[in-house]
Amino acid sequence: MKTSRLVLLIAIIAAVVSCGQRKSDVDTRVENILRQMTLSEKIGQMNQISVGGEVSNYAGAIRDGQVGSILNEVDPVKVNEYQRLAVEESRLGIPLLVARDVIHGFHTIFPIPLGLAATFDPQLVEEGARVAALEATAQGVRWTFSPMLDIARDPRWGRIAEGSGEDPYLDARMAEAMVYGYQGRTADSTSMAACIKHFVGYGAAEGGRDYNSTLIPEHLLRNVYLPPFEAAVKAGAMTLMTSFNDNDGIPSTGNKYVVKDILRGEWGFDGLVVTDWNSMGEMINHGFAADRPEAVKKAVAAGVDMDMMTYGFIGHLEEMVRRGEVKESQIDAAVRDVLRVKVKLGLFEHPYINIEEGAAVQYAPEHLAAAHKSAEESAILLKNDGVLPLKDGLRILVTGPMADAPHDQLGTWTFDGEKSHTVTPLKALEERFPGKVIYVPGLAYSRQERDNFSDVVAAARRADVVLAFLGEEAILSGEAHSLADLNLIGSQSELLKALKATGKPVVATVMAGRPLTIERDLENCSAMLYSFHPGTMGGPALANLLAGDVNPSGKAPVTFLRTVGQAPMYYNHNMTGRPYSGELLMKDIPLEAGQTSLGNTSYYLDYGAYPLFPFGFGLSYTTFSYSNIGLDKEEYKANDTISVTFTLANTGSREGTEVAQVYVRDLVGSIARPVKELKAFERVSLAAGESRTITIGIPVSSLAFYGLDGKYGVEPGSFQLWVAGDSASGEPVEFEVL
Ligand code: NOJ
Repeated sequence: MKTSRLVLLIAIIAAVVSCGQRKSDVDTRVENILRQMTLSEKIGQMNQISVGGEVSNYAGAIRDGQVGSILNEVDPVKVNEYQRLAVEESRLGIPLLVARDVIHGFHTIFPIPLGLAATFDPQLVEEGARVAALEATAQGVRWTFSPMLDIARDPRWGRIAEGSGEDPYLDARMAEAMVYGYQGRTADSTSMAACIKHFVGYGAAEGGRDYNSTLIPEHLLRNVYLPPFEAAVKAGAMTLMTSFNDNDGIPSTGNKYVVKDILRGEWGFDGLVVTDWNSMGEMINHGFAADRPEAVKKAVAAGVDMDMMTYGFIGHLEEMVRRGEVKESQIDAAVRDVLRVKVKLGLFEHPYINIEEGAAVQYAPEHLAAAHKSAEESAILLKNDGVLPLKDGLRILVTGPMADAPHDQLGTWTFDGEKSHTVTPLKALEERFPGKVIYVPGLAYSRQERDNFSDVVAAARRADVVLAFLGEEAILSGEAHSLADLNLIGSQSELLKALKATGKPVVATVMAGRPLTIERDLENCSAMLYSFHPGTMGGPALANLLAGDVNPSGKAPVTFLRTVGQAPMYYNHNMTGRPYSGELLMKDIPLEAGQTSLGNTSYYLDYGAYPLFPFGFGLSYTTFSYSNIGLDKEEYKANDTISVTFTLANTGSREGTEVAQVYVRDLVGSIARPVKELKAFERVSLAAGESRTITIGIPVSSLAFYGLDGKYGVEPGSFQLWVAGDSASGEPVEFEVL
């Protein structure tokens, strides 16, 4: 063993050896390592490479200490070999951070994050992230680029699938859950560092076109786009990724204000900041940097620690430090951030994985059970005229392009889940209703065009009920997969229409990456279940829901639009000077009507002011009623907690779970305030006929916002509060903040 590595090893052993280390111990270890590093080795830690080739292609770089992290290697044999090169053959023996996009599960695939958000069940989401971490770390992946915390108010943006939707409160709860799940409540060798992304505002891409510019002013940034990130930082997220977009002209990877001043300065983040894939290099395309050295300089100045795929730090930084253009202290700060993560993860103690044990962990029965439950809770019942749950003994026609699409039901960003493990709705229904299922696909895939459905129609005539599985192939949402038309693609609407014409009850189940515009399709079915892409166990989950073994409880984490022209439309918009009050629609306007704007309000002449389904909406096979909504006081002080009490009753004849939602409106502020904001929610399961009194506490401090002149705080005045099953229902109660 080389002397330097021996010294390092002694330094490490002298420090605390488990990964549940105190901050000061971590910092001491980091300083001990940093002290021994050459400038070139330091810059090496700031470099991430993506592999795909043979180990020998990268062996030299790893041995020379030129690689801090590798991306996209999940072959455990190779992962161990890379770690061996780093730990045993590089001068200082610093292990690699092995990274992967584990977005909604590793092998066992959970519903896409938008579906997970529809569960309104942070505990379940945490369990799912834990499962992902157990599987991924067992194969050597210790860093995932998840969760994506981008608020998305425009379903044209394909990446809406990857986040928690339009609401900062829900997004923040999901963010914390995923961070806890990935990293573990206490760190050990199954901890996988979370990477909160994309910092910041990426989801506000103009027109929903991916990578597009954003224009988010300061108040909006701080009140809507930043809170989920701040919550995740408080939950201990170890890393963060800068985004591709330029906001108001400044690409995030070179945005000192958001990275250095807000993230590190205001929030005290001491984790690792990585660029997105070549987002440093793309600052040249943005016209924000003339060349690579300038991009490097701007990224380092902004506070970026690691370069993903620009190969800019490795090629330029050393020379720039020597020329005095970048200070070595800046490099040291970045390397500290990288090393801190490695130390916290216990990588120095456990760089290797046990390949056999790791293989046994994949698709463990309890992992599949968690994915199953998540898929059940993520499905939203949008319509039901009584056909659901299915009665026993019916002859069922199963049709549609998503009925037996094991690859597509996994959804976007599925690198490691294998379709051979997917259970499709067809398979699950055949098991649940033996001998009762006829299958005629009608369409082989979602984009397929067909003008004749005679085979499906003939089969429908022989059935008692039709189950049509529709939606989007996995590849139609996610990164770079924005859409300008949100109707069901191909001939799916025509298929539904043809089925409806048979007079048989038709149940549509939609598996998609976004809220599609399904208004016309709702007219052609008796019931609709919206499951987003439900993952490995989507089939059994949907079969249970359709059969009524499980009662749907998902709620919309985004507004469902009637038509794409309404985008962006979201529930927590600011009150306008002319709130909608039901004015004339186009069809009611007389010919040659004179010009007038008097009395007109904020709406569309053709589509009015309302979406198809509001945020928070979702039906059940039972019904719920809210009553006796009251507050413990009429006036509150800044440090108080508002105690909201209400009675929730299951007024139907089945057990069910309701997501009770609490919304607040601040009537007057130093800046215009949203019409409503979600402040709390609770999943409540009730037996048929049962009612329960529920109390939810809302700290007055959670009503704080960034007001005029950037002042953060709760502004005294009058407020309204709703408790309801969605964002558009209920009657407000009033209170004052003194
Ligand atoms: C680009 C994507 O924007 C980001 O979300 C992802 O984590 C990286 N590529 C790495 O694959």
